[in-house]
Amino acid sequence: MSTPRDEDRLLDHQYDEIQEYDNPTPGWWTWIFVATILWGALYFFNVIPGIGTGKGRVANYESEMAAAKAKYGEAQAPKQASAADAASVLASLHDPAALAAGKEIFTTNCVSCHRADLGGQIGPNLTDDFWIHGNKPQEILTTIVNGVPDKGMPTWSAVLKGDQLAKAAAYVISMHGTHPVAPKEPQGVKLEWAASSEPGASEHAHGMENHENGEKH
Ligand code: HEC
Repeated sequence: MSTPRDEDRLLDHQYDEIQEYDNPTPGWWTWIFVATILWGALYFFNVIPGIGTGKGRVANYESEMAAAKAKYGEAQAPKQASAADAASVLASLHDPAALAAGKEIFTTNCVSCHRADLGGQIGPNLTDDFWIHGNKPQEILTTIVNGVPDKGMPTWSAVLKGDQLAKAAAYVISMHGTHPVAPKEPQGVKLEWAASSEPGASEHAHGMENHENGEKH
């Protein structure tokens, strides 16, 4: 202020008696400003190696997606449980040790939403005849494997291993027809019980067959 330069020119307007000079921005400032715009454009289009990979935006995106796919495979895509997977569910259903393991897996991971007696809370009642995603062993397994992320059912293949998934599914099937204390209202459609023809299920159904041999209590 004390050393006004030749080109300093006081602008006409003033506000509260404050006035300003019409000084140009310094050259170094202007050039950095221009350089950042240029750099931004090159970065955006990704055409110069060093600033980006130099492949261009689209090719860059595609190669990153291809690399991710190679690394993670199709793991993200919903997976349909195969008939062989379903067979291992049925094998677990007849194997008391596997069922016990299934119960433990269920207790650790599932009771917070489905309750310890499977009567349902956040998730549906798993003991009744009503199913949203089907009640065949293969369908139940598929639901557990993929989850229903939109509805709050986690994708369990991200947490549990293959045989644990099958054991959890077997445990769910084994609990069909039991009577939870305060079951959640039915959700889904009523289905014939596809898996109940398997002996494993009725053994766990709290002796409903006792009526037949007169052992009523
Ligand atoms: C965070 C809560 C939550 C947890 C934990 C959870 N579930 Fe679920 N589950 C749900 C919800 C919500 C649904 C209903 C999804 C829908 O509406 O489509 C569901 C649905 C299901 C179904 C399908 C029921 C039908 O009617 O088709 C099965 C089977 C199931 N869960 C099993 C399990 C198993 C086994 C575990 C543990 C490994 C588990 N769930 C853990 C919330 C949960």
